[in-house]
Amino acid sequence: MERLRDHLLETGYTIDGVRDRLGVVAASALAREELVPALRETAADDPMAALIRLWWLGATVPAARLAPEVLESELVRVEGDQVCATVHLQPWETGGYVVSDRKVRPGDPSLRSDHVVGAGGASANLAQLVTRREVRRALDLGTGCGVQVLHLDRRAEDIVATDVNPRAVELARLSWRLSGVHDVDARVGSTFDPVEGELFDLVISNPPFVISPGGELTYRETGADGDAFCRELVRRTPAYLNPGGQAHFLANWLHVEHEDWRDRVGGWLGETGCDAWVVQRDVQDPAEYVELWLRDAAVQGTPGYAEHYDRWLSWFDERKVRGIGFGWITMRRTDTLDPVVRVEQLTHQVALPVGDYVDGVLDAIAAAHRVRFLDSAHLRTVEGLLDERVGLPGAEDPMRIVLRQTQGLRRSREVGTVEAALAGVCDGELALGPLLNVIAELVGDGEILHTDAIRPLIAEGYFQL
Ligand SMILES: C[S@@+](CC[C@H](N)C(=O)[O-])C[C@H]1O[C@@H](n2cnc3c(N)ncnc32)[C@H](O)[C@@H]1O
Repeated sequence: MERLRDHLLETGYTIDGVRDRLGVVAASALAREELVPALRETAADDPMAALIRLWWLGATVPAARLAPEVLESELVRVEGDQVCATVHLQPWETGGYVVSDRKVRPGDPSLRSDHVVGAGGASANLAQLVTRREVRRALDLGTGCGVQVLHLDRRAEDIVATDVNPRAVELARLSWRLSGVHDVDARVGSTFDPVEGELFDLVISNPPFVISPGGELTYRETGADGDAFCRELVRRTPAYLNPGGQAHFLANWLHVEHEDWRDRVGGWLGETGCDAWVVQRDVQDPAEYVELWLRDAAVQGTPGYAEHYDRWLSWFDERKVRGIGFGWITMRRTDTLDPVVRVEQLTHQVALPVGDYVDGVLDAIAAAHRVRFLDSAHLRTVEGLLDERVGLPGAEDPMRIVLRQTQGLRRSREVGTVEAALAGVCDGELALGPLLNVIAELVGDGEILHTDAIRPLIAEGYFQL
């Protein structure tokens, strides 16, 4: 593995190397799962083209085009003078490599139930959400191809990675060896079973969150009813967190008729005693959702497609499901008697990676909820805040004032003249109570805004304590 790794690096089989070798058109087509442009670009007889064809495109390559390090690895099958890959091996953004099962494409045989999925968009989403704070013990639950561990390396002293699928753990170990990541404690077992009685500073999971009638594909679904797997994951997490420990999950949840999704997901967290922040990034209707996951397993175009689609939709109908939410769940064990859970929808572009500032987001939500006497609090306007005004030409007062963050979650919010004035003068010098008194004399109708009216602006990061 070490020799193979050196060979991959020497050949330039890295994210940038592959992108440069393929060019923009073929790389974009590949992102849409269209192979033809990439096959054309890699028809030439050079070592880099051979690696891309073999391990990224899954094409057969003449043995004469491959180095001994490749031919002698456990990751190919040699048939006469031709070689094909037994795995998908891709460079990853951390600089390492990810080994998974070969990608399934339209026309391929149906997936084996213990298929190990490669790193993709969801993996990258979780990786960018996770706190950048260094921790002592971290748990990656449902490690799959092991990609999250590549991100945790050097940020956690001890890493435990678990998966219910033994093949996943086997392939994850190859990913780590090829990436030069050592000493990962990998264990096979379901949810928290392999770490019973242990505590972590950080728990992360890109879990099998797909909500479906069956639990046939281990990499994405469990057979739990509806969104019960994610609910139980959240409910059980506090028992495995050290005080102050944090958890970051991707999740899906149901939108059921006559129920607010915020109450549903907030309810999961309400009983945990943790501070929590839930963000819905997208919602799909049941048909979009079924199509997405049938496409993901390359079921489209197969004889059973319509029947499968119909069965899945009936299952949603029986449960009065009107939509499926996709999002993030972040939890922090605070051991207070008064935890706070914030549930919201944010579908706009936020600054990435969220992990750079996610701790601050949780701090702000907690501070806005728990600081008792805001009158004596010293606030600061967050850096990079813009004040946008819209009004009729020549009018003394604007019709609308919006405060807009240019960093972090890039929120925007319509405010009154008092809050806008506060944003202009809040530099941490004067306490909030006296500041609001002065502002009331200068702007508005002289009525003093209650300091509690500023809490939402603190929770949303317009003002910092
Ligand atoms: C969506 S994949 C995530 C893989 C990888 N962590 C990533 O971020 O790309 C979910 C993983 O959870 C595993 N899994 C499924 N059911 C599980 C369970 N009950 N307990 C632990 N892991 C499970 C699957 O085998 C799969 O590897």
